[in-house]
Amino acid sequence: MTTTPALPGLIIVRHPLVQHKLTILRDRRTPTKIFKELVDEIAMLMAYEATSDLALEPVEVETPLERMTGWRVSGKKLTLVPILRAGLGMVEGILKLVPSARVGHIGLYRDHETLEPVDYYFKIPADAGERDFLLLDPMLATGGSAVAAINSLKTAGAVRIRFLCLVASPLGVARVRDAHPDVPILCAALDRELNERGYILPGLGDAGDRLFGTR
Ligand code: PRP
Ligand code: URA
Repeated sequence: MTTTPALPGLIIVRHPLVQHKLTILRDRRTPTKIFKELVDEIAMLMAYEATSDLALEPVEVETPLERMTGWRVSGKKLTLVPILRAGLGMVEGILKLVPSARVGHIGLYRDHETLEPVDYYFKIPADAGERDFLLLDPMLATGGSAVAAINSLKTAGAVRIRFLCLVASPLGVARVRDAHPDVPILCAALDRELNERGYILPGLGDAGDRLFGTR
């Protein structure tokens, strides 16, 4: 997988398939059905990178010829946590790779006036301290939602967290890195800036609306 450690703690997944699909995702003409499929596929490709150091445990296996010791991912310890709503679009793609991963949910929306996150739901599996968390949201804009979600995960006992997004802004990356320097960020693109309404430029618009056809 082609990656670039662009800034400390930020990995940009530059795999050609990710970049190709991301460009179609950005296109304003891409319809909801294709948008959904692309988010699913990009999340799966990025998860390949995000899980590159998952713990393995030895397991005995009998080939048609002899017995050997192979390896298996202790996948039950991986927990996906989408930030509602748009993060939901990334879950199924990753579950195709790690079907035994558990799934928590964090409900947050950005107040349209203040751009501050408002939280409305939180549910993750027990034993948070023993799990590896992949926090999912396609967009990292002001960083308010990601910082709030990581705060909630840590309050619940999570210690190993990675944040996986598709498009990040420089401000969002800086805010997450300042508040949570222990949380690596993986993205498919680091875009230029935010507009006055807190949207990423060039971005892809409102990810939740495009995923669910609400607008
Ligand atoms: C979007 C996006 C992130 C957040 C990013 O969600 O999915 O959660 O904005 O912005 P931030 O970095 O400035 O916090 P939104 O608040 O629109 O909620 P929705 O998914 O329910 O539409
Ligand atoms: N949320 C989105 O869905 N898109 C943006 O550009 C910023 C926040």
